[in-house]
Amino acid sequence: MNVPNHIAIILDGNGRWAKAKGMPRSYGHVKGCANLETICDDMKELGVKYLTVYAFSTENWKRSREEVEGLMKLFRNYLKKCIKIAEKNKMKVKIIGDISAFDADIRQKIVELEEFSKDYTELHFQIALNYGSRDEIVRGMRRMALDAAEGRLRPEEIEENTIENYLDTAGIPDPDLLIRTSGEQRLSNFLLWQLAYTEFYFTDVPWPDFHKEELVKAIETYNHRDRRYGGVKEE
Ligand code: FPP
Repeated sequence: MNVPNHIAIILDGNGRWAKAKGMPRSYGHVKGCANLETICDDMKELGVKYLTVYAFSTENWKRSREEVEGLMKLFRNYLKKCIKIAEKNKMKVKIIGDISAFDADIRQKIVELEEFSKDYTELHFQIALNYGSRDEIVRGMRRMALDAAEGRLRPEEIEENTIENYLDTAGIPDPDLLIRTSGEQRLSNFLLWQLAYTEFYFTDVPWPDFHKEELVKAIETYNHRDRRYGGVKEE
């Protein structure tokens, strides 16, 4: 099996999964969070080098106060626990997104986790929190414009990799495979630049039920794709 170097996942369906069981949405998020821990182990075992997950979008603040507060509580616990998971899996964790919107204690936990795990190389795990691809591009282009205005960058020198270097994902290779769980077939403002050549895999399985067998199925489907990048297929 040809295992993708980088898998990105839109974690979707926690709420519907819980509702189908007659449980509150928050229960779905707790189970979704637990599944994230397991999937990291599975990724490492399968030899995937980069995993990026969409956990909280710039739009998710619009959910009910109760749900947002529940998610913040979950992030607090998870970020703390993730230090142990990073140690176990030799996993470097990076948060992408605009973290300035989070409470100071959450920002502090992010700094601690990133600092603790920065030298691990077995699995590179990116968690998108308060992330929106357009927002990422706006923030990056503002920094790029400032560098140009202050003479550190000449406009004629701007190339694709210059732009990449201003994104939150600077230094991280583009995803080879994007998975979205729970039936929706859209990108929802996730990694718009980075997914330019990525294969997409959509499944009806909700995130809390997306286990290793489902992951293997996604990778097998990816294996049967003909990745050409617009070039001519080799005979
Ligand atoms: C989508 O399900 C999920 C979210 C918006 C939150 C994702 C959060 C987790 C998987 C848990 C915690 C993650 C971390 C990093 C600790 P949904 O609520 O949109 O489900 P629905 O579409 O069925 O309503």
